[in-house]
Amino acid sequence: MEFFRPAVFLTILTLSSTINARKCPKPCRCDDTKRTVTCIGKNLTEIPLGVDEVTVKLDLKRNSFQMLPRGAFLHTPYLTHLSLQRCSVVTVKEGAFRGLGRVVYLNLAYNKIDILYQESFDGLSALKELHLDHNRIEEIRPGAFTQLGFLKMLTLAHNHLVYIPNMTFQGLQNIKWLRLSCNSLNNLAAEAFAGLFTLSRLSLDHNELQFFPTRTMTRLPEVKRLDLSYNPMTYLEEESVWMGKLTHLYLDHSSLQDLSDQAFSQAGLLSHVDLGHNQLRYLEPLSGPTKLRVLNLTGNPIRCNCRMRRLKEWATAGGVKLPGACAGPAHLSDEPLQAVTSMDLRCRGGAEALEEEEEEESNGNITATAKPKQTAKCPLDCECDTEAHHASCESRGLNKVPRGFPPRTQLLILRGNHFHFIPARSFPGTGRVVSLYLDFCKIHEIEAGAFRGMRNLVYLYLSDNDLTSLEPEALAGLPKLVYLHLEGNRLAQFPGAALSLVPNLSVLHLERNAISRLEPAGLLCSAAPSLMKLYLRSNAIGGIAKGALDSANIETLHLDSNRLTRVPSDALTDTPNLTELNLSRNPVQWLGPETFQEMSHSLQRLYMNQMGMEEMSKEALLGLGPRLKVLTVRGNQLKTLPDLSPLSGLEMIDLRDNPVVCDCDLLPLRRWMERVKLDVLATCRHPLELKGQKVMDTKGFTTCPESTTSPTETGSCRTHGCKTKIHQSEEEGQKSSDHPVKHK
Ligand SMILES: *[C@@H]1O[C@H](CO)[C@@H](O)[C@H](O)[C@H]1NC(C)=O
Ligand SMILES: *[C@@H]1O[C@H](CO)[C@@H](O)[C@H](O)[C@H]1NC(C)=O
Ligand SMILES: *[C@@H]1O[C@H](CO)[C@@H](O)[C@H](O)[C@H]1NC(C)=O
Ligand SMILES: *[C@@H]1O[C@H](CO)[C@@H](O)[C@H](O)[C@H]1NC(C)=O
Ligand SMILES: *[C@@H]1O[C@H](CO)[C@@H](O)[C@H](O)[C@H]1NC(C)=O
Ligand SMILES: *[C@@H]1O[C@H](CO)[C@@H](O)[C@H](O)[C@H]1NC(C)=O
Ligand SMILES: *[C@@H]1O[C@H](CO)[C@@H](O)[C@H](O)[C@H]1NC(C)=O
Repeated sequence: MEFFRPAVFLTILTLSSTINARKCPKPCRCDDTKRTVTCIGKNLTEIPLGVDEVTVKLDLKRNSFQMLPRGAFLHTPYLTHLSLQRCSVVTVKEGAFRGLGRVVYLNLAYNKIDILYQESFDGLSALKELHLDHNRIEEIRPGAFTQLGFLKMLTLAHNHLVYIPNMTFQGLQNIKWLRLSCNSLNNLAAEAFAGLFTLSRLSLDHNELQFFPTRTMTRLPEVKRLDLSYNPMTYLEEESVWMGKLTHLYLDHSSLQDLSDQAFSQAGLLSHVDLGHNQLRYLEPLSGPTKLRVLNLTGNPIRCNCRMRRLKEWATAGGVKLPGACAGPAHLSDEPLQAVTSMDLRCRGGAEALEEEEEEESNGNITATAKPKQTAKCPLDCECDTEAHHASCESRGLNKVPRGFPPRTQLLILRGNHFHFIPARSFPGTGRVVSLYLDFCKIHEIEAGAFRGMRNLVYLYLSDNDLTSLEPEALAGLPKLVYLHLEGNRLAQFPGAALSLVPNLSVLHLERNAISRLEPAGLLCSAAPSLMKLYLRSNAIGGIAKGALDSANIETLHLDSNRLTRVPSDALTDTPNLTELNLSRNPVQWLGPETFQEMSHSLQRLYMNQMGMEEMSKEALLGLGPRLKVLTVRGNQLKTLPDLSPLSGLEMIDLRDNPVVCDCDLLPLRRWMERVKLDVLATCRHPLELKGQKVMDTKGFTTCPESTTSPTETGSCRTHGCKTKIHQSEEEGQKSSDHPVKHK
């Protein structure tokens, strides 16, 4: 396998100016008539020099460039198509594409880019299509796209975006389609999409949006098609969708429990609304859209009784198709909505009787006695939005939980009051509430059965209170609870007994408490059998008994910022699905042999920063293999590291801020770095003359006995002499199986 050396290219360059034949860099294929140059999968580490100036299509897929330097393509000003996917690119320097004023298509998908800088795309003034999907972009700096006035399609799908700040896409004056699917977006600034006056299609599916981003969307006057499928939204309030030209709206696979009949009143042109696979039981006729053709209700638990009659009659009259089927009552179960007639939609004792029956059913025997009549009343000092089903009494200085919320309330915000104590049955008549906020309420005690009757509660926020313990029956009566926030309290023990009453709990936050030890008494597997994510950062945990963490489902375990002096390997033997383990900021000085052996069949991400670790046994990582994707040991006291070569699947490794000694003992590590297609972050601290040099760049190893293999080379190991000796690292063949984990 021939590798380039700058010297070789200089020669080619000089020759070609005298000979008439077109230049073609060595491992590439060149088609002179089509003016294309193709160098796919040639393991190139630098953009090949000597590509003929007149080239219009350059395909460099599947190489290993790591970084695209400023002016990388200055010598090919006629390019129109440039393919750089799967090239392990981490950084695109400002001005990397300068001089490419004719490029219409640029593909940077499947790289490892994390930040888009202000002038990353400077110079691409004719660009029409930009593919940035399947990277790790978590930040877009202001002005990143200002130069792309002709761009029509931008895809940023499958990245790590959480938030879109104001004006992010400024400058895209001709954009038609923006794809932001499969990120972790939970927030969009009001002006996030400001300036996109031509955008007609926006894809935001598979994100973490909990609310319809009304204010942000109203800034998009031309959008006709909006995809918001697979976001955890629970309801749509009145005038949620304020988009005059929208025709197609996808809200399927969300968590919608209800929506206002006025939700679409400001979207008069809607013709297709997909509400499939939500939790809707009834729906009122929708006001606003007069041209509606399809209202897709597939996969909802629709109750086909008298409360659906108006919708059915409205749909029939307006010629609206209703894909979907009845989930009940029994005699209509699975009957297509299209096929039931409004005569079939009946209630035994009339609509009112039904309503009461349901309230009772959903609240157990509590409301049977205390149920308020269907008045749209709201407790004093609170605000109730009966359309949106919210109620809030935030920061009102209340010292007792108010009563009498509208029975259909789904979001109840009681944050920032002074409750101190929550007595039993504090929430009568709230059987429909999905999210309850009780954070910052100075609560120090919750009585048994305090939440009884909240049959639909999924999210419970008890963070930042004064709880020192949790009564075993405190969470009784919450069969659907999935997310529990207890961070920022003073719990001294893992509240195992209380958790055994919430069998479907899957995410538990216990950061910033005072837990000092995890005992098998808090047995996860019996207490919270469904738990998948457990956050214990910033407690005082000094020990974990064997069995304390046994759990078949646990995937994410954060034990960072605690007092562990050793990795609790023996407590992690029965965690078959553990994929992410954070041990950073624990005082673990030494890692013994086979520390992670038991987790090796599942572990993908391991964080061990700032532990004061001085040494790792040569066998410390034994067992960990291609499955491990992320390893960080930043800010320790490591002078050297064990052999990392079995970790052939690594995508990220951080070895910074360790006193690494760059002598011949480190040669195996250095060789491994050369092989893997990763930006390995590590610098030498010793010997003195190499201090500050990157381990990857230093020439300190040339004198080591085994490394002097190429007599013609005096420079670093990165030339072919060394490379041929070391067997090549595996192609990064991971397929696109990286769908983010979604809410249920
Ligand atoms: C974004 O713009 C909105 C509306 O102009 C403004 O209210 C908000 O403060 C801005 N956000 C930031 C972070 O600048
Ligand atoms: C309704 O949604 C289902 C599932 O989400 C889909 O398969 C079907 O094609 C949709 N029907 C229409 C008419 O859009
Ligand atoms: C209903 O009331 C009975 C008796 O008061 C009690 O034992 C039972 O636990 C209650 N059920 C629910 C679901 O609260
Ligand atoms: C709890 O989860 C199980 C399995 O995930 C599911 O079958 C069950 O319906 C859930 N229970 C409730 C009350 O949601
Ligand atoms: C846990 O792992 C087992 C086997 O590896 C797998 O079948 C199961 O689906 C996993 N459970 C979860 C919740 O991922
Ligand atoms: C791991 O823990 C450290 C220290 O608390 C924290 O800074 C870091 O964000 C954590 N990493 C992840 C991925 O949770
Ligand atoms: C590139 O490296 C891979 C894996 O090391 C090897 O299989 C492949 O043959 C190399 N490709 C070329 C063109 O040398």
